[in-house]
Amino acid sequence: MKALLCRAFGPIETLRVEEVPSPVPGAGKVLIDVKAAAINFPDALVVQGLYQAKPELPFSPGSELAGVVLAVGEGVTRVKAGDRVIASVPCGAFAEECVADAAQVMPLLPGMDFDLGAAFVLTYGTSLHALQTIGKLQTGETLLVLGAAGGVGIAAIEIAKAMGARVIAAASSAEKLALCRQVGADETINYAEEDLRKRVDALTGGKGADMVYDPVGGAYAEAALRATAWRGRYLVIGFAAGDIPKIPLNLALLKERAILGVFWGDSVRRDPASHFVNMKQLAAWFAKGKVRPVISERIPLAEAGAAIKRLASRQGMGKLVVLPEA
Ligand SMILES: NC(=O)c1ccc[n+]([C@@H]2O[C@H](COP(=O)([O-])OP(=O)(O)OC[C@H]3O[C@@H](n4cnc5c(N)ncnc54)[C@H](OP(=O)(O)O)[C@@H]3O)[C@@H](O)[C@H]2O)c1
Repeated sequence: MKALLCRAFGPIETLRVEEVPSPVPGAGKVLIDVKAAAINFPDALVVQGLYQAKPELPFSPGSELAGVVLAVGEGVTRVKAGDRVIASVPCGAFAEECVADAAQVMPLLPGMDFDLGAAFVLTYGTSLHALQTIGKLQTGETLLVLGAAGGVGIAAIEIAKAMGARVIAAASSAEKLALCRQVGADETINYAEEDLRKRVDALTGGKGADMVYDPVGGAYAEAALRATAWRGRYLVIGFAAGDIPKIPLNLALLKERAILGVFWGDSVRRDPASHFVNMKQLAAWFAKGKVRPVISERIPLAEAGAAIKRLASRQGMGKLVVLPEA
């Protein structure tokens, strides 16, 4: 089978598609014919050796996919050959075949094609966990989303709207902000051109945002925290801008703001019951058309490395999906 291979941690450009032996599903594992696999920002970090988890070399990047079960290992009863499924894996999704832990495999939802299935669990799982489980977003509250046209950003907009919040989307271009409006954002801020804090103040009558969803970090983080209301919550999602911000803690003290860390992947391992409840909620919203991944690009496996590079260079919108059979 063909797979995008990382042979040494380093520049994304060194990734190559190679012919490798098909994986064999051991006990508790499921072998999947990959029909679609979505790119996420951490894929770019993993291949460069910049992520907290470092897979054994060589490996294929890619952590979420949808496809058809080819075979199951000993003891697997949840799924069988021929089932259409979604799977989360530590790595290995950018390949024609992939082995997943049976516990991380779920049926493709009714009305969902493989592309949407591949782009669903990680981004929507993260954003619901952040906004509901950690942030406890309430109906009528105002949420500021940074990097709002990215993968987790679009999911945060749609989920916050489904929860009855008012959403201010912040991103770096008019095209990105138009997409945010399309998926439900009430207000937009181009933070490449406008003063983030002043615009949030103006849009909230001086009160500030009740909650901030920040997958970007860098220089925007402090401005966003300053734009948070009295007793507001600031969700630390990620650092796509590269720098991990050092925040003056008096900003938390002065307005009794809460700075809340979010680590969805670890939470799924520690608290699978809550993850299951959240996935049921997301499935119900998908059935009602309230959440639906925005797929901006469909990419053949041979071009997956270049697409990971585009995402890491701020050129992606919504989700980029790799189609190994294209
Ligand atoms: N905490 C968790 O559990 C969790 C789970 C999933 C993902 N994450 C993190 O969330 C972040 C976003 O992931 P994603 O998959 O949604 O990524 P994405 O689709 O690439 O979106 C990231 C957004 O960040 C913004 N950005 C600002 N400066 C950037 C820069 N220098 N390079 C690249 N992007 C930049 C871009 O929007 P603008 O151009 O509009 O600024 C971009 O759309 C990542 O840091 C990821 O590790 C965390």
